[in-house]
Amino acid sequence: MTKTYKIAAIPADGIGIEVIAAGVEVLNALAEKTGTFRFQFDHFDWGSDYYKTHGVMMPADGREQIRNHDAIYFGAVGAPDVPDHITLWGLRLAICQPFDQYANVRPTRILPGITSPLRHVSGPELDWVIVRENSEGEYAGVGGRVHQGHPEEVATDVSMMTRTGVSRIIRYAFKLAQSRPRKLLTVVTKSNAQRHAMVMWDEIAAEVAQEFPDVTWDKMLVDAMTMRMVIKPETLDTIVATNLHADILSDLAAALAGSLGIAPTANINPERKFPSMFEPIHGSAFDITGKGIANPIATFWTACQMLEHLGEKPAADRLMRAVERVTADPSLHTPDLGGKATTRQVTDAVIAAIQGDNE
Ligand code: IPM
Ligand code: MG
Repeated sequence: MTKTYKIAAIPADGIGIEVIAAGVEVLNALAEKTGTFRFQFDHFDWGSDYYKTHGVMMPADGREQIRNHDAIYFGAVGAPDVPDHITLWGLRLAICQPFDQYANVRPTRILPGITSPLRHVSGPELDWVIVRENSEGEYAGVGGRVHQGHPEEVATDVSMMTRTGVSRIIRYAFKLAQSRPRKLLTVVTKSNAQRHAMVMWDEIAAEVAQEFPDVTWDKMLVDAMTMRMVIKPETLDTIVATNLHADILSDLAAALAGSLGIAPTANINPERKFPSMFEPIHGSAFDITGKGIANPIATFWTACQMLEHLGEKPAADRLMRAVERVTADPSLHTPDLGGKATTRQVTDAVIAAIQGDNE
């Protein structure tokens, strides 16, 4: 019997619109090739243009409209003429936080045909998954501003960590590390300077580690971590970090793997009480919007994460094989990778690779 997956597509801003359109085409081609499932895409026009007309990034009942979908396929938010904190809190965080998508999973590998800026790295030495705490910490939204504009103005952003929030993300990371061949986890911290929440973070890591005797783990201060990622990438496998630390480290990871245009991310609600959300890490990139040269690879790779989450692992593998076949050919590289290919050409090539895949 053919299953139907209901996917809420929210392309939002800038190149988000171009890459999600490409992703929808590729996923439909994949479903057709596989034959055992199909997609129903419902498109939502929320984002900065919607904000300019309606004064909000999405309608008041927006979350209700997507609450029962099987997954959310998200493009990017951000526009040059709307403040970033409005676009972010009005749409992306307005979905992630209430839907309790507390595990943000960011795989990084150097795909075939892609060159890392690291001279000593050819490929297999860099194979990481960064697990980002996605519901609290520095993004908790706790804080405020008083006496705005006056000399005595005060502003605070309080990083809030809870035992529940820290335990569940650390446990998620240990489980993920355990499922990977090397069973290796690095817990990123800053407990030398931040002596309350980060000390609790470390304590919880040590407690949860007891449940996973077969996982080797170590602890790394975030500043030293940036050096280790560059100098000894082969010593890392699964990485867990706070919301802000992982935000920064994942951009570094993406650059070390060749381009931000490739890096995918999954916002997961592990308990499946709410739909999870899949998106490329790159932003809306207004400098190249409408030129047809956005790299759709991150959007295809995050579709693999979505398929795995839906329980369609063989289809995820087939899509990843098609993506790797295409990245291996430098004539199919977009400008962010130093090539001249267009979004259209890369998309067509991935679709052709799916159609020709008989594994
Ligand atoms: C990311 C992005 C976002 C973040 C931006 C768009 C606010 O950088 O997903 O890594 O910081 O969470
Ligand atoms: Mg980021």
